[in-house]
Amino acid sequence: MDIFRTKHPASLPVDSALHCCLTATDLTLMGIGAIIGAGVFILTGVAAATQAGPAVAISYIIAGIAAMLAALSYAELATSVGGCGSAYTYTYAGFGEFIAWMIGWNLLFEYALSVSAVSIGWSSYVNVGLLALNIHLPLALIHNPFEGGIINLPAVLIIAVLGFFLFIGMRESVRFNFIAVVIKLVTIGIFIAVAVGKVNPANWHPFLPFGWQGVIQGSALVFFAYIGFDALSTAAEETIDPQRSLPIGIILSVTICSAIYFLVSILLTGIVHYSTLNVSSPVADAIFNIGYPLVAGLISVGAVAGLTTVMLIMYYGLTRITFAIARDGLLPVMFAKINPQTKTPSTIIVFSGIIIAAVAGFMPLGEAAQLVNIGTLFAFTFVCAGVIFLRISKPDMPRPFHLPFNPLIPLLGIIFCVYLMLHLPSLTWWRFLAWIVLGTIIYFTYSYQHSHLQK
Ligand code: ALA
Repeated sequence: MDIFRTKHPASLPVDSALHCCLTATDLTLMGIGAIIGAGVFILTGVAAATQAGPAVAISYIIAGIAAMLAALSYAELATSVGGCGSAYTYTYAGFGEFIAWMIGWNLLFEYALSVSAVSIGWSSYVNVGLLALNIHLPLALIHNPFEGGIINLPAVLIIAVLGFFLFIGMRESVRFNFIAVVIKLVTIGIFIAVAVGKVNPANWHPFLPFGWQGVIQGSALVFFAYIGFDALSTAAEETIDPQRSLPIGIILSVTICSAIYFLVSILLTGIVHYSTLNVSSPVADAIFNIGYPLVAGLISVGAVAGLTTVMLIMYYGLTRITFAIARDGLLPVMFAKINPQTKTPSTIIVFSGIIIAAVAGFMPLGEAAQLVNIGTLFAFTFVCAGVIFLRISKPDMPRPFHLPFNPLIPLLGIIFCVYLMLHLPSLTWWRFLAWIVLGTIIYFTYSYQHSHLQK
């Protein structure tokens, strides 16, 4: 049994006819679409109130450094290894099949759970908006059975709509994403413009109410806000000139989002006291509380747009990673079929949509963000390690984007990612280990026998 076989998956015969249509601008907008969501519209407040206080801005900087180090490593591997499987494909090239499978298995978890979690936040924001218009949805249809309801119907419906967009074609999804990203950025711009004149420096005292420990735990939580840039690398096979466009898209979107997060978090804790922010719509509530109800309404609209694009891109990433894994035979090959009309992997779009919707409609997702984070940090650690490893094992591989200061940047990336993982709760670790055990069982009972490399 050779679980370390490392033949490049892209060399396998494939049924891949994904449509090549994305530019660097599309990718940057996709990145912003995937990154800015619940992490800024909800977690800023939650992390400030419960973990870091006004120093949540520092938590965002630390998490942003970890994300940027991983993003740089992604850029090198996305342009040299390529493929639509993101960290799964890179790990395959660097560390062999079993580790690649485990990374892919974690990515599926990360992407599916983030879409479900964000759709539940989306449902809450929409419900708040409808209540403001005096429209009352039946409680049983906006709460899952664990909360005393029947189903979270808005969460299920939004996933169905996004699945439809992904099904009919990537070009259409990109157009939809563009409009939603513009709405989201304008909204954040309005928040910054209003908040900047309303800061009361007294709110920043004490700046570190929970000490440095709180700041680091806050970083481990708000790392969620940066997740999404990795979904860009899954678009490598649908990008025009990926060697140039992918690094631009990844690095630019992470840089823009880091600046936005710092500004929003420092202003948010400057306009109201951090202790008032542990609510489901902290940014809108804070603006409302300083006397701008109309702006608060606009921010809610922007949040709905923001959360929508996060779901769209993460759902997209999920289908492409599943596609890449199935193409290698580690998952049933029917998931690697491309619809000849739409040129999209339609089977997996429908199949994964049903699973995501079921989770969103019927399950509570209390610690979803932390679970998503641990799986992502694990994958990012391997991406950083992959850069170092491939420089040694395949020094002559063409590297259109050559990461400078090797191995310092990927090494720092590993240190930051592992450090943040260690600050996540032990329950999150146990759940993560359970997922790993399940993945190991599936690999040895199905994937190993069906792998195309084995044949
Ligand atoms: N970064 C994404 C968000 O904040 C997952 O919603």
